[in-house]
Amino acid sequence: MSEKKQLRIGLIGYGFMGRTHSNAYSQVGHFFDSEHSVVRQAVCGRDEVNVKAFAEKWSYASYETDWRKLVAREDIDAVDICTPNDSHAEIALECVKHGKMILCEKPLALNGEQGEAMVRAVEESGLPNLVWYNYRFLPAVTHAKNIVAAGELGRIFHYRANFLQDWTISEELPQGGAGLWRLDAAAAGSGVTGDLLAHCIDTARWINGDIVSVSAMTETFIKERVHTATGEKQAVTIDDACAFLARFENGSLAIFESTRYARGHKALYTFEINGEEKSLFWDLHDLNRLSYFDHGVPGDRRGWSSIHCSDGEHPYAGNWWVPGLCLGYEHSFVHELAEFLRCLDDPSLEKRFPDFRHALGTQHVCDAVLESARSGRWVDVKKA
Ligand SMILES: NC(=O)c1ccc[n+]([C@@H]2O[C@H](COP(=O)([O-])OP(=O)(O)OC[C@H]3O[C@@H](n4cnc5c(N)ncnc54)[C@H](O)[C@@H]3O)[C@@H](O)[C@H]2O)c1
Repeated sequence: MSEKKQLRIGLIGYGFMGRTHSNAYSQVGHFFDSEHSVVRQAVCGRDEVNVKAFAEKWSYASYETDWRKLVAREDIDAVDICTPNDSHAEIALECVKHGKMILCEKPLALNGEQGEAMVRAVEESGLPNLVWYNYRFLPAVTHAKNIVAAGELGRIFHYRANFLQDWTISEELPQGGAGLWRLDAAAAGSGVTGDLLAHCIDTARWINGDIVSVSAMTETFIKERVHTATGEKQAVTIDDACAFLARFENGSLAIFESTRYARGHKALYTFEINGEEKSLFWDLHDLNRLSYFDHGVPGDRRGWSSIHCSDGEHPYAGNWWVPGLCLGYEHSFVHELAEFLRCLDDPSLEKRFPDFRHALGTQHVCDAVLESARSGRWVDVKKA
């Protein structure tokens, strides 16, 4: 058996994303070939009892309770940042000082200014870097990207995306702490814009090119919530809902909407692209399907078809089971990791995963959206 190079991971944060990534680390080698084998070397969390239990459950060789110690360890090659958004920049900059590769959760940072410092640091160091915009790597979404990249849609006129949830409607929900840090602007940077729309924007930019200008509105429906840190009611400064219009560099128009107040919706992420020749539609609730309309089909047979992207020729599907069986949300993380490993094996290959610079472009769109909502004007998006 040939010796593989080890990629020793240090994971910081073991909440929702810590679990999805740990699952990807354990699965990737079974389904994707690489010269690298991923080693779950250490996990870091602040609570020793909990982090130890997580390390045992997910087979990490060791644990730390101080992320700076983990970053400084010589037996770690890559650090995975799975903490709330306010810590991404600080941890990433420390990783660069210690020569670690970085896999960072989205959004890249609290704002574009932080993001620019992160991009400068990783690019000067030459260290491989990735941001977990995972939805790109679902077979149906990658298939949509490939169809558009082949020019099959012809001229593109429209892009529209939604990401709807309903979990913050109760006034009793506090802000701060595990999971609920999302309601605290100090920890999250923004509300649905950085949390949910960032995903829609990443996918849109990947498939349809850069967004050049935006006009947005936001609302904070519940103005005060108890903060878990103080027990006191405190102003809520995140955007609970955001809708914006956008113009793409290719001349197409877009409309994006996200809210956590759409009663009945848990994670309704959909996008639709309308081109001169064809249209595409995707829905996270039916994530293996890509809806496809081809105007080139004779008129009496024309209609929306539903492609179940589970055949061997669909992206990533052939690495798993037999045609017709389903993949799930968790596979998107495995696929993104496989793309990262592919480029570690051969750095001359074209990157098919979002790096810090791409994520900075998305951050700039988010910043422009929030600025437009504040000013009530169209705002041009800064180039990354
Ligand atoms: N890609 C996606 O689809 C997706 C989905 C959810 C969250 N996210 C992103 O992932 C990140 C984490 O979100 P989550 O849902 O996993 O949050 P979470 O609240 O479930 O987990 C956060 C973890 O970070 C830990 N943590 C916080 N401060 C820390 C510190 N100083 N040192 C060590 N550990 C610390 C917490 O204890 C917890 O384990 C966020 O940036 C979020 O935007 C991405």
